[in-house]
Amino acid sequence: MRWLVTGGAGYVGAHVVHALVAAGEGAVVLDDLSAGDVGRLAGLPGVPLVVGSVRDRALLHRVLAEHPVGGVVHLAGRKQVAESVADPLRYYGENVDGVLALLGACREAGVYRVVFSSSAAVYGLPGTDRVAEDDDCRPISPYGRTKLVGEWALRDSRSWGLAAMCLRYFNVAGAGSAHLGDRGTTNLVPLVFQALDEGRRPVLFGADHATPDGSPVRDFVHVSDVAEAHLAAARALAGGHPGGVYNVGCGEGSSVRQVLRVVGEVTGRDTSPEVAGRRPGDPARVVAAVDRIAADLGFRARCDLRSMVASAWGAWRWDARRRAALPADQPA
Ligand SMILES: NC(=O)c1ccc[n+]([C@@H]2O[C@H](COP(=O)([O-])OP(=O)(O)OC[C@H]3O[C@@H](n4cnc5c(N)ncnc54)[C@H](O)[C@@H]3O)[C@@H](O)[C@H]2O)c1
Repeated sequence: MRWLVTGGAGYVGAHVVHALVAAGEGAVVLDDLSAGDVGRLAGLPGVPLVVGSVRDRALLHRVLAEHPVGGVVHLAGRKQVAESVADPLRYYGENVDGVLALLGACREAGVYRVVFSSSAAVYGLPGTDRVAEDDDCRPISPYGRTKLVGEWALRDSRSWGLAAMCLRYFNVAGAGSAHLGDRGTTNLVPLVFQALDEGRRPVLFGADHATPDGSPVRDFVHVSDVAEAHLAAARALAGGHPGGVYNVGCGEGSSVRQVLRVVGEVTGRDTSPEVAGRRPGDPARVVAAVDRIAADLGFRARCDLRSMVASAWGAWRWDARRRAALPADQPA
């Protein structure tokens, strides 16, 4: 089956496209390249790239007419919590209007399967050891709220026949290959790399949490595993699954100090942190319950923190070499 992948030139999206193609599925990418990179789609000659916004309804209509697909994997959107606090309307525009535009186009074109990139940010500050899909969703940022509204629009679309898989990713890290890495510096692992490159000590926000080593505990999941979860969700939809909401994590927590230690081992650098105060609204522990996705979709992440950090570091160095080779007046 062929899938329209919105945001397919982004970090997670490109891994999804590569996983779909490797599994024998077809793909068409729609990406406005606001944060994406065409280079991530290198080596995929059979995958058309349409450059434009998912909010451009006329374009979506045309894309679905010219490239008939059996379903959509919707990853296009903005993902930075702090930016969403500073500019909430941009987030409601890109993330909520993006979903609404897509759903309108799908209904018009008779496309009834969607896999959606949601986020653990929908939970807010979970009070349980492992947060499960049926636990309360009380997002504490505009970003988290836009993801939850997107989920509601998708789930309510069951009335016109839509089957939707909402995948709530936890902390995505790693790279499937060097050219696919996370170039943003909002997630922990690239933030630490950036500090090391700039000769700064990484900052640990909050060393007095109620966790074994005092630093926050998160569920890190390899981006290649996340891509496999999309493949499992897409195949389930193709097989007639009615859709659902699923956590995508490892089900195990790693503390920020543990991550720093592994980054130190992989890079050979000193990663002892500068300790700063807790960030407001930063929970002590956010770890996924992963039983539902294992039972329903047969998906289990492989989850090895060292392989996430090592592959992320390889991609980070690759990108630094690429940027150094560019002429000074050419944007990276
Ligand atoms: N990376 C994470 O840790 C993480 C965690 C939870 C959820 N998510 C979600 O997964 C999705 C992908 O995340 P990512 O890490 O790959 O981010 P990314 O920024 O690398 O990718 C997003 C892609 O969408 C494109 N895009 C943005 N707005 C668009 C629009 N209006 N029309 C078309 N294309 C548009 C960008 O150019 C980019 O290629 C996002 O929706 C994000 O909220 C990511």
